[in-house]
Amino acid sequence: MSHSKQPIVVFGATGQQGGSVAAALLKAGWPVVALVRDPTSARALTLRAAGVELVQGSYADTDAIRTAMRGAYGVFSVQQSSPSGGVTDEEEVRFGISIADLAVEAGIAHLVYSSGGAVSETPTGMGHFDSKMRIEAHIRTLPIRSTIIRPVAFVDMLVMPGFGLDTGHFSFFMHPDQSIQLLAVEDIGKFVEPIFADPERFADQTFEIASDSVTGEDLGCLFSEAAGRPIRYARFSDEVLQESPFLAGLTALIDQGPLAGNADLDALRKINPAMQSVREWLAGAGRAPFLKALGASGTWEYDRG
Ligand SMILES: NC(=O)c1ccc[n+]([C@@H]2O[C@H](COP(=O)([O-])OP(=O)(O)OC[C@H]3O[C@@H](n4cnc5c(N)ncnc54)[C@H](OP(=O)(O)O)[C@@H]3O)[C@@H](O)[C@H]2O)c1
Repeated sequence: MSHSKQPIVVFGATGQQGGSVAAALLKAGWPVVALVRDPTSARALTLRAAGVELVQGSYADTDAIRTAMRGAYGVFSVQQSSPSGGVTDEEEVRFGISIADLAVEAGIAHLVYSSGGAVSETPTGMGHFDSKMRIEAHIRTLPIRSTIIRPVAFVDMLVMPGFGLDTGHFSFFMHPDQSIQLLAVEDIGKFVEPIFADPERFADQTFEIASDSVTGEDLGCLFSEAAGRPIRYARFSDEVLQESPFLAGLTALIDQGPLAGNADLDALRKINPAMQSVREWLAGAGRAPFLKALGASGTWEYDRG
């Protein structure tokens, strides 16, 4: 397709989602432009070495965003969120809306916005989901072809300090027999590139993306298998949930359904046939961080939320 040779502007390209998207687009032959705050950072230099054109600027820098979008075909938009992303919910909304408006102004043909798995038209009461609901609603009013993806919880997050891999007692949000959908960050780009490559198929659609579904017990078995020693699974204790309203809010959203993941895995496999199970992730990109987490104690940074 001829448009596949026109540039895509990727926001957050030095981070998880944008990094995954930039890598998949480059692999498929798309020119990629990235807005980066620090073009001399190690991650920015790696992007440049891979062929990404860097434009220096922040989400608040509308002139830099206009420069990045000039002559581009598509935009991948993602913002950081509260509580750990260094922005307020209002800033996230402002940045998300501003990028979408600037995409319209620049005549961008296809905007892909990355929202969140628990987001719907009904507020959740949690700031970092309801901010995305407001950005989604704004994008739907705009005269631009758009696709909204809602990534579920990243499997990559499970190796963060504080979930207990180092102690042999892993804790997360679900009851042992309760399921949750998870997404390998590596797969995000492999869902997004086909969306840009086939715009008519995905125009004006909103859907969750995930790459596997597991119970807490499954996680215990998968982690034990990968570690070569027992890792027991339990839900966060009542004490932990009482101490952290943030964790308690997420746990309630798992119980109520929205955060457990509602992606159509069979349909997603047709978009990205290589999407990874947790077992595959643990044997691939997750192997090194998982082994590191087995020996790393610490506190999950969201504990302060
Ligand atoms: N964790 C999960 O399981 C999960 C699941 C679904 C959705 N989400 C959502 O994912 C989003 C975060 O995405 P991520 O994990 O890819 O983030 P990330 O890895 O923390 O990366 C953030 C990126 O945004 C850039 N950035 C931050 N502030 C900026 C600013 N003011 N101007 C320009 N660039 C800026 C950073 O660039 P620098 O190099 O300049 O720092 C970096 O490239 C959040 O909204 C979160 O709610 C998370």
